[in-house]
Amino acid sequence: MKLQNKILLITGGASGIGRLMCRMALEKGARAVVVWDVNQSNMDAVVEEFSSLGKLYTFQVDVTSAEQIAATHAQMQQEGIEVDVLINCAGIVRGNATFDKQSLKDIDLTMAVNALAPMYVAREFLPAMIARNEGHICNIASAAGLIANPRMSVYAASKWAAIGWSESMRIELQESKSRVRVTTVMPYYISTGMFEGVQSRFLPILKPEKVARKVLRAIERNKIMLGTPLGYHFIRICQAILPLRWFDVFAKMLGVYSTMDNFTGRKA
Ligand SMILES: NC(=O)c1ccc[n+]([C@@H]2O[C@H](COP(=O)([O-])OP(=O)(O)OC[C@H]3O[C@@H](n4cnc5c(N)ncnc54)[C@H](O)[C@@H]3O)[C@@H](O)[C@H]2O)c1
Repeated sequence: MKLQNKILLITGGASGIGRLMCRMALEKGARAVVVWDVNQSNMDAVVEEFSSLGKLYTFQVDVTSAEQIAATHAQMQQEGIEVDVLINCAGIVRGNATFDKQSLKDIDLTMAVNALAPMYVAREFLPAMIARNEGHICNIASAAGLIANPRMSVYAASKWAAIGWSESMRIELQESKSRVRVTTVMPYYISTGMFEGVQSRFLPILKPEKVARKVLRAIERNKIMLGTPLGYHFIRICQAILPLRWFDVFAKMLGVYSTMDNFTGRKA
């Protein structure tokens, strides 16, 4: 779906690749971009920086709250804002502890933001898209959703869930001959600060601008899946053909299993 003259909703659009997609969508001639985020001061900064590029709406929404999602959607309907493209981009990672040291609070929050929230938000906007027989839902998952890494078990679990759900929904729409499209995105580490401290030996850590541009291009080209960088697909092929214990040796050799060792994350 071409973004020109379309209305986009970007969750987590106040930071990182969401913020960049906000700018780029306006530059591409989107009619409006709606940002949902918990971080009000970052949203204010987005408005200050990008409102000269086009129409921007911001709503402070915690996407783990079905009530807040429904109330904000109702408010948008009253204001006549109809979403053509939904990008589920809000995401979190809670430290690099091994699973035995995970708190219930962190497990619940990670699953709520990364796995459940995209479903809650999509459930709110999908029926109208189906009725119009037009629309696009893009879910930002992660490379960790298909290749598990130590020290991010809950994050990986949340992204595996997001990918499975996103793909199943895509197939449902395809089978029903709907023109509503779904794109699932699986990027490797991106230098936004979310994964500050990670080290990567084989695959390059991605530049946020490049990923943001690729995601919007994938939506415009109705791509089903976007895995990036290219080397990620090579690792996936090896994962498919090698016995798992051999793959472990291979992944260790590439340094994949030690990427999270020096993770610090974003300092608040
Ligand atoms: N950065 C990476 O290395 C990387 C790699 C692969 C996938 N991803 C995924 O890409 C997406 C964007 O990552 P980023 O690096 O731009 O992250 P980021 O931390 O820069 O931005 C995430 C945004 O989500 C918002 N958010 C968090 N919890 C929320 C909630 N409950 N309700 C509403 N908003 C909430 C934050 O306030 C923030 O603005 C995430 O889903 C992340 O998991 C990131």
